[in-house]
Amino acid sequence: MTSPSDAVTDTTGAAANDAAAAQGRPVPGPSVGASVRGLVAMQRDVVGWVHDQRLEHGDVFAARFPRRVPGLPSMVVYACEPAAVREILTDTRRFVKGSPVYDEMSAALGEGLLTSEGETWRGQRRTLQPLFTRKRIDDYTEAFLAATTVVGDGWEGRTEVELVDEMEKVTLGSVSRALFGTDATAEVAPIVDATDQLSQITVQRGLSPVTLPRWVPTPGNRRLVRLEEDLRARTARIVAEAAARSEGRDDLVARLLEACDPETGAELDHQQILEQALVFLLAGYDTTSTALAFTLHELGARPDLQAAVRVEIEQVVGDRQPTAEDAGRLDLTRRCLLEAMRLHPPAYITSRTTTVDTTIDGYRIPAGAVVTPVFGELHRNATYWPDPERFDPDRFLPDAVEERDRYAYLPFGGGPRSCIGERFAMLEASLALAVLLRRWQVTTDGGAIPMRYGITQRADAPVRAELTPA
Ligand code: HEM
Repeated sequence: MTSPSDAVTDTTGAAANDAAAAQGRPVPGPSVGASVRGLVAMQRDVVGWVHDQRLEHGDVFAARFPRRVPGLPSMVVYACEPAAVREILTDTRRFVKGSPVYDEMSAALGEGLLTSEGETWRGQRRTLQPLFTRKRIDDYTEAFLAATTVVGDGWEGRTEVELVDEMEKVTLGSVSRALFGTDATAEVAPIVDATDQLSQITVQRGLSPVTLPRWVPTPGNRRLVRLEEDLRARTARIVAEAAARSEGRDDLVARLLEACDPETGAELDHQQILEQALVFLLAGYDTTSTALAFTLHELGARPDLQAAVRVEIEQVVGDRQPTAEDAGRLDLTRRCLLEAMRLHPPAYITSRTTTVDTTIDGYRIPAGAVVTPVFGELHRNATYWPDPERFDPDRFLPDAVEERDRYAYLPFGGGPRSCIGERFAMLEASLALAVLLRRWQVTTDGGAIPMRYGITQRADAPVRAELTPA
């Protein structure tokens, strides 16, 4: 796959960099006053703000904030080119998860794999990695196909659909079947709705200069606490039901019940199973549905390309049910997915915090700064992506990939903390496209869609498509 997840922690480099910190150049960026004024624009449209600043200050720049404002880092660095992003994502000694946004996420969702740090994270990753091997993911093929077939059947007799809604049905159906061994969409939908609201509150609180602690009973805090309690209660119920049925089953909850750390033998306790299940649910559904919706949105405006994808599906799969092996041979289909995630990366940004005074790309960065690889901007960096706005799946032909810096394309992140669900998502999405495009021709206007930015980015307007039988 495409994410450079094999990189290791580079502690030697870190030590050298720490020593070099004093010699680093000052990082360019807006003044303290302009940065503080920018906070409002950041909260409204962080991507637009980063784009404008990048044009003015370059691929690595920083916003600076007054010292000693509680909860506000003195510096937030934005990295939009591969060398800086590589440094940030591969060196887990100098750059740790943990930023105002992550702190808010942990408070809301618990210490699952997405937000934990240090030894806790290492133990969790060791324990959970065996649940995501190729063989184990391939076992979910039936679950993915069943979820997509329900959606495809629902398109019968319709001439228009809204792609985000439809793709959410595919991914919710898929992830709930994979997690709980049954179509738990009805029970899972309110969980997902609550987390969508939480995600936006979390990011707003994380980016806010002043946030009141949760125990202060403001209307906003009361709503936050209610949402969190509701989320936990619902997840506990659904996991308990799945656990009660799990004997002899092979779903993710059953596997979580059996999982243990290969080094220490430690098993997951009830709370940890709950938190990990919630993380998989949340990390897995809207990311993949956004990837699918935008792939169809782009293909819908390119009938020739869509026809070529259909020919590929017919040649590889024919009339049978697609298999995991087939999905591996749907090369053009996969490249269209990758190109859609270049232009519309569901995980458009992430963040780390510096543990020491250090440098990135030779720029001097203090301890405690928040550093954010901005995948949306990285994927449009014209040095690596000529004519960056053009949709062109050939950018992912083997020779082109070989020539490009691996850290120029990171829809699934990079380094030790890259996405554990990459294969899950790619298999699910390739199978969904195979099932749907074999039956339907999709037509869209391919125009720009306004987005809203939480922990992930999502369409903020209907993404409509006309349907005709293929
Ligand atoms: C198209 C779909 C997906 C995209 C674009 C995506 C993207 C990402 C990215 C960029 C990261 C790294 C974040 C960082 O470095 O801070 C990540 C981490 C993660 N993803 Fe995904 N993801 C997708 C699907 C999934 C699925 C299906 C699952 C689970 C079933 C999943 C579970 C996770 C988890 C648990 C982590 C944290 C890993 C760790 O820190 O060890 N993701 N994802």
